[in-house]
Amino acid sequence: MIALKETGMEFETNEIDKALQAAAEARKNAYAPYSKFRVGAALRASSGELYTGCNVENASYGATICAERGALMAACAAGDKEFSYIVVVTDVDPPAYPCALCRQVLAEFCGPDFIIFTGTPEKIVGRITLGELLPHPFNEIP
Ligand code: THU
Repeated sequence: MIALKETGMEFETNEIDKALQAAAEARKNAYAPYSKFRVGAALRASSGELYTGCNVENASYGATICAERGALMAACAAGDKEFSYIVVVTDVDPPAYPCALCRQVLAEFCGPDFIIFTGTPEKIVGRITLGELLPHPFNEIP
């Protein structure tokens, strides 16, 4: 059992493992012919649903969609807009954190206690909150 004190929620360890596996599976579908850097993500909704994403690059480079945002778009399309954590998988050590653009997009739906697990396809390596990664998100046009 992993107790996420940030959210006051408890999750079975095997549930986090399941999310890790889902992120690792999604990473296999990454379309990264330019950077060759493959990323997979699994986003846990409060509904219990798990949404996955992988990075999808584009010849224009700028139109590339990161794994985290892919997962978030899939969740929104399915009607989920409340989340407790995301698992992000790459093959680098130390593990990669979500880019600044993804942090801001996550902050649209997730509060500072939202948890980001980072890791490789084999194991979770790190854990950090969105509030730590992006303490001052842009919120509203004044
Ligand atoms: N990438 C992600 O998928 N998530 C991030 O948070 C950072 C970067 C992708 C975008 C691009 O396809 C590749 O990694 C290299 O930047």
